[in-house]
Amino acid sequence: MDEAVARYPSDHRRSAAMPLLHLWQEHFGFISEEAVLWIAGKLGLQPINILELVTFYPMFREQPPGKTHIRVCRTLSCAMAGGFELMENLCTTFGIQRPPDGDGMHNPITVSADGNYSVEFVECLASCHTAPVCMIGEQVHENVDPNSAANLVRNPQSAIRNPQLRSPPHPLEHRLIYKNIGRPDWTTEIDSYLRDGGYEQLKQALTMSRGDIVNKVKNSGLRGRGGAGFSCGLKWSFIKPDEKRPVYLICNADESEPGTFKDRYIIHEDPHQLLEGILISCYALNAHTAYIYIRGEFPEGAKILERAIEEAGAHNFLGKNILGAGFDVEVYVHRGAGAYICGEETGLIESLEGKRGYPRIKPPYFPAVLGLYMCPTIVNNVETLCHIKHIIAMGGAEYARLGRANNTGTRIVCVSGDVQRPGYFEIEVGAVTMGQLIYEMAGGLRPGRKLKAVIPGGSSAKVLRADEKFKLKHRQSDGSTIEREMSIDEIPMDFDSLTAAGSMAGSGRRDRARRFTRHGLGA
Ligand SMILES: Cc1cc2nc3c(=O)[nH]c(=O)nc-3n(C[C@H](O)[C@H](O)[C@H](O)COP(=O)(O)O)c2cc1C
Ligand code: FES
Repeated sequence: MDEAVARYPSDHRRSAAMPLLHLWQEHFGFISEEAVLWIAGKLGLQPINILELVTFYPMFREQPPGKTHIRVCRTLSCAMAGGFELMENLCTTFGIQRPPDGDGMHNPITVSADGNYSVEFVECLASCHTAPVCMIGEQVHENVDPNSAANLVRNPQSAIRNPQLRSPPHPLEHRLIYKNIGRPDWTTEIDSYLRDGGYEQLKQALTMSRGDIVNKVKNSGLRGRGGAGFSCGLKWSFIKPDEKRPVYLICNADESEPGTFKDRYIIHEDPHQLLEGILISCYALNAHTAYIYIRGEFPEGAKILERAIEEAGAHNFLGKNILGAGFDVEVYVHRGAGAYICGEETGLIESLEGKRGYPRIKPPYFPAVLGLYMCPTIVNNVETLCHIKHIIAMGGAEYARLGRANNTGTRIVCVSGDVQRPGYFEIEVGAVTMGQLIYEMAGGLRPGRKLKAVIPGGSSAKVLRADEKFKLKHRQSDGSTIEREMSIDEIPMDFDSLTAAGSMAGSGRRDRARRFTRHGLGA
């Protein structure tokens, strides 16, 4: 408990409230009144400050669960693939009577009469390509057969892992960030990363001036991969070089947007790539503390990152006077607890401060000006931070040759829904069209299905109907541009084209929507 408290500045102990709630719940199974009083006392807070977290964050529970607790995803891709049938079958098998949907305010957990099992519906677990998905205890189970769910629970070792991990990249892919994903000889250990030239870009960056690094990132044209597509270099340049207040870097690993499952693979398969990106960014921004805010439903990811941080510390890539460069930096993992809104950067900051994740009003609360603890803060997505390492390796101008003007580099897009090969694909931005993505890379529609609509960004992005026409600027072979009417299949997969089509690129998701009956779009 004391170690968890020490991760935050002594005048901001409230930040430790969620870590302490997690520790308590892991040990005792639920948050009792005693827990609320004890944690409040430990942090010098009022009990209401703790209780408001327990009643806001769905992962904290006030009653004990069953000996085996099962979380079933009910979001779009899982709902289409049988998530609701899975829940019904689990309830029938274990004699659990769930209250009808809509009863009760706070994510009800229902426990079997013998206390052995409990079930809970949860939102997207960031594995939509392997729908339907559930979590048994802390382990994610993918491609679950709703009809044999009970066997799965009784023999959890029969869980199917994502088969795409063993497949080679599609020929239309350009893998930069995902180059190590699925490599047979690859492990998450630091030795594997070092054998492959890992941390060389950190060493290189430490010999450069901060201004040079920021300029390289600006020249690369890198746009944030977390949703808004904002210029990363421009965001970084809002931090004054002579800033007197502490500067913070936050890695946004909340990945709760339904349909997005790209950051989880970076964390699970290549954590040191992310860590190297974070450390280079901290040096460039003169930030001595970075927090990785990881969604609560990624307990395994949090452990992998903790281990990677320990390994990197043992090699002096982080800690005091890193690699003798006179720069001190610490990186801490901070777990969320199931609230989608904490992916939004100001909601995330409130949550990291130990409060409910209510977004702040902009202006004045632009994180780069008034962020964590009212100090300048850069919030970047997991994938964005990984690109930093490659920009140092390639140089900004060379990186900018990937992709297309104003839409540079590569990005990972995720496809789920009724396609033959749902999965993740790293493409040069704009180098493939929506049609190529759906029909070539994702193998086309499942037999008997007809394309009705695509959701190209997050839930807030406009749904594109298959029968719509879109007026977009099209670059011709001589370099000039003309406005042309396009079908959905012809839309290039880049930030500007998707915005021009009235939607957004979001955080990399593509949901093929056939029937959204539970979500208001008729079949
Ligand atoms: C409702 C909402 C949810 C969001 N969820 C995420 C998320 O899960 N992960 C993420 O990186 N960004 C998310 N964002 C975007 C963040 O607010 C922020 O723009 C991003 O983390 C900045 O990083 P980037 O510049 O590297 O993209 C969300 C935004 C909104 C409005
Ligand atoms: S994992 Fe179920 S919809 Fe994403």
